[in-house]
Amino acid sequence: MNDRTDTITIVAFASQNPDRQADLRAGVRRLMGDRPYRLHFPADEAAAVQVLPGAEILMTWRLSEALFRAGKDLKWVHNGNAGVERSLFPDFVESDIVLTNVSGIHGTVIAEWTLASLFYLAQRFHDVDEWRADRDWKQHKEPITRQRFTLEGKSALVVGYGRVGQATAEKLKAIGIRCEAIATQAKPSAVPVHGVEKLAELVGRFDIVFIALPITPQTDQLFSREILQRMKPGSILVNVARGRIIDEAALIDSLQNGPLAYAALDVFTEEPLPPSSPLFDLSNAFLSPHISGNFPEYTHRVQEMFLDNLERYIEGKPLVNVVDKRRGY
Ligand SMILES: NC(=O)c1ccc[n+]([C@@H]2O[C@H](COP(=O)([O-])OP(=O)(O)OC[C@H]3O[C@@H](n4cnc5c(N)ncnc54)[C@H](OP(=O)(O)O)[C@@H]3O)[C@@H](O)[C@H]2O)c1
Repeated sequence: MNDRTDTITIVAFASQNPDRQADLRAGVRRLMGDRPYRLHFPADEAAAVQVLPGAEILMTWRLSEALFRAGKDLKWVHNGNAGVERSLFPDFVESDIVLTNVSGIHGTVIAEWTLASLFYLAQRFHDVDEWRADRDWKQHKEPITRQRFTLEGKSALVVGYGRVGQATAEKLKAIGIRCEAIATQAKPSAVPVHGVEKLAELVGRFDIVFIALPITPQTDQLFSREILQRMKPGSILVNVARGRIIDEAALIDSLQNGPLAYAALDVFTEEPLPPSSPLFDLSNAFLSPHISGNFPEYTHRVQEMFLDNLERYIEGKPLVNVVDKRRGY
């Protein structure tokens, strides 16, 4: 993208871990060869703002307006998340700066979290833990045995059929769950993929509904009270995407009064989930604190994707994982 003699300045406002920084330093040195470059690791946003003028490339967890304003020479921002909604303010969306994300690294871990949460609910492990806590042998008591169910033979609607949706559908199929999916439009695929306009019609036909959508103006509250009311009686709703995609008050209502039997939720309208949330009192809701996409090598993978793209950037090739900023994902 620039002349071999121009100095490329990179601001890595990401990991403060010295080992990760050493890895990145080594990777950048290897790719740059004898080309002049600068690599900064600012410790906080104020320090990042100081070094951003003149920098072409920024790696960050989120582009704040302060970083954007300071980064007058930026050409490329690499965001260490799949969901980039917190970076998409209007001036940045309208700018020519390319935004890349790390969609693709969460597929396996989220698919496994989803299987684990579904098995936890289906096997009534919550009740099994109660036996352990109160030491009252419950081998043939409700709900520990009578309410357990198998997942094989069930059906799932995967809403959002991108990297997370596809990886999860693969795992669901592997344990005998029949999958269909929803994306912005119908498309040919290994599983039937319908357009989102079919959501209201289809949502009531599946035992499990799995949400893997980005949060955009179109998906905000997509799972409205009306859609939740249309879900199949006794069904399970799984959300690993963003809390605001669901009307949370209507979800609580549905878990208390039907038609939903269970939910597995990693994300919430307000995070951290307030301690007063009624969700904490619902034994038919499996909750986790926005961890489904995390794994120990996460930052390492973010940096690997950055370096893959840096190589393309240096060679003047198109970057991969480019976000359509107007579409929001
Ligand atoms: N909990 C976590 O830790 C965690 C981790 C990673 C990701 N996430 C969340 O999961 C989201 C998805 O990640 P991903 O990597 O799978 O993204 P992705 O590969 O970009 O896939 C997004 C999918 O959503 C579909 N979509 C977008 N807008 C839609 C709409 N209005 N109606 C119907 N479908 C729509 C897209 O449809 P098309 O195929 O038609 O474009 C695509 O299939 C992220 O944006 C993030 O919010 C959460």
